[in-house]
Formats: sequence, structure tokens, C-alpha cells
Amino acid sequence: MSGSVKKLIPRPLRRKLARLRDALRAPPAAPAPRLKSFHHADEASLSTDELLAFARHDAHRIEKAFYNRIFEPKRSYFEQRRANVLRTAELLRERKFDMSEPTLKWAEHIALTFDELEEKFIRPHCTEPQPVQPDLADSIIALAARRRSSRVWASEQPSAESLEAFAYKMIDAARWAPNSGDRQPWRFKIISRPEDKLLLKGLKEEHCYAAPCLIFVGTDRRVYGALGQQEAGLYIDAGAATMLMVLAAHASHYGVCWNHFSRDLIESRPRNREIYDGFVREMDIPDFIEPVAIVAFGVAAFHPPVPPRMKVESLLL
Ligand SMILES: Cc1cc2nc3c(=O)[nH]c(=O)nc-3n(C[C@H](O)[C@H](O)[C@H](O)COP(=O)(O)O)c2cc1C
Repeated sequence: MSGSVKKLIPRPLRRKLARLRDALRAPPAAPAPRLKSFHHADEASLSTDELLAFARHDAHRIEKAFYNRIFEPKRSYFEQRRANVLRTAELLRERKFDMSEPTLKWAEHIALTFDELEEKFIRPHCTEPQPVQPDLADSIIALAARRRSSRVWASEQPSAESLEAFAYKMIDAARWAPNSGDRQPWRFKIISRPEDKLLLKGLKEEHCYAAPCLIFVGTDRRVYGALGQQEAGLYIDAGAATMLMVLAAHASHYGVCWNHFSRDLIESRPRNREIYDGFVREMDIPDFIEPVAIVAFGVAAFHPPVPPRMKVESLLL
């Protein structure tokens, strides 16, 4: 249901319709066969998001092969990867996709300079490393050491527009996180309307759904290829992105709390599952998105005492 149509239907009626739709829904289909990679997939059935993720992943494999010095010895393998990128670009062009999308442009660039990757892609785009200065790490350590999870919110908060604009900035930070195979699989939903936050009541703690603004963090399960749902990257990729969001909020003096929102919590009792299903339905979160976290932020009532961390020496194995 599109957002504008949805707004016209009162929420209780929407809920009833959704329950009816769920009841009528066919039993879950057999799990989709695991994709080994793009060239083993049925092209037409791939969504634009999947095509883009596969293109990024294949281009990443080509570039990395060069750094690992396995490009020439395994050339025919990487030629297949190059063909994948070019075919993906062709499919996207046919679908009238905006070919200036930066990650697609990057993947295409690698595929097109494949025969002269070093001269035409790596050398023109690489930069000189800067001299190492260990002390520069101190500011990031100090920033990390001052951070605390905030769970009590000030009564005065910025407007919903300001909070949403800042959430956007947090997602801007998140997208620079390292991620497995450059799939960039994370997806986010900014939630600032009180009635939407309340959808989490019963599943998350009060400090979470009462926070001024929430950001749902999930991962697109479809883009992991052969390992599919079993891939730990599903959670690690989103975790890396979440950490950058938390740091960005803390650096701007917002209070922020990372809240657990993964399968173990959702499947731990039938009521949790019900609340989760209602939440994703109302928030239009597709079923191929694996939930990972809810980041809550806003102006904190106070900055809680920082719990000491174990000494570095006692962390060493
Ligand atoms: C993966 C993860 C899940 C978390 N889930 C919750 C949560 O559901 N509720 C909560 O209040 N805090 C949650 N936290 C915050 C932790 O409780 C908190 O980071 C930890 O106690 C250390 O305290 P500090 O963040 O103030 O340094 C979570 C943190 C992480 C990294």
C-alpha cells in the first residue's frame, strides 16, 4: 500500500485489513534456492537493489584480486565477474535506472578498465598515504570513552523535522562503514511519529519507544548470495553501520542508545512476533529485511556516569 493511500485509511481499519490479508496469505513458500552469484541467478527475477549489490560485489572482487596478486593467475574467473558487472549495467539501463548512481558508476568503471586496471583505475584514483601519527587516535578514543547509552530523555526536544534531519545525518555516517564484500546491504527507517514508536510497546523497553526519534536498522537478506541467511555479515555489517550512527549522534551531543532488535528477541515468544509483524506491516518494512537494531536518540535529560571498561591488558589473549 503506498504511503499516501495508507494515510486515507484509519489505523484500526488498516490493522483489520492487515489481519485479514495475513489470514488469507498462502502458507510460506519453500525457501528460495540459494544464489551462488549473479551469473547463476534468473536475471529477470532480480530486483534493482539485488542487481546493484551484485555489481558492487563483483567489482569489489576484481579490484581486490589485483591487490592480492591473483588477478592474472585467475583471470578467467575474474572475466566472469566483469561480464556480470557489464550485464548488470545493461539490465539496469534497460530498466531505465539512473546510470549515474555512484556505486554503479564505480562498478562499471572497474569493469570497463579491466584490461588496464592499474593504469586506468587504481593509479589515477589512489592517494599517497599520510605520515603515521599515533596521537591522532586519541581524539577518537576520547570521543568513544565519553559516550554512554542514554535512556532518560529531556522534556524539551527539537522539532520532529530537526530530529529527522539529524537521523539523515546519522545514516550518512552509517553508509561509510566497512561491510562484507561491499554489498552495502543496510537499510534504515526513520521513526519520529509517536504513534509509530508506540508500535514497539511490549517488544522494546519504554526508554526505547519513548525516545524522541528512532532509526530502525536492518539488512537486505537477498544480497548475500550463496550463504544467504546464515551469513554472519548480515548482523556484522549492520552493527558496523549502527556504531557509526551512535558515534555521530554522540559527537553532536545527542543522547543515543543502541537497542537490540534481532531474531532472538523477536522469536523469543509469540507476543513479540505479533508485535514485530504489526510493526513491520505499519512501517512498510519488506520481509527480506533482517532486523538488527533500533537506534534511539534525542536530547538526553542527563549524561549518565560512564561505566568503566576493563583494562586493555586484561583483554589481551
Ligand atoms: C548489540 C547491542 C544491543 C543492545 N541492546 C540494548 C537494549 O535492547 N536496551 C538497552 O537499554 N540497551 C541496549 N544496548 C546498550 C548496552 O546496554 C550498553 O551499550 C552497555 O550496557 C554499555 O553501556 P554504555 O553504552 O553506556 O557504555 C545494546 C548495545 C548493543 C551493542
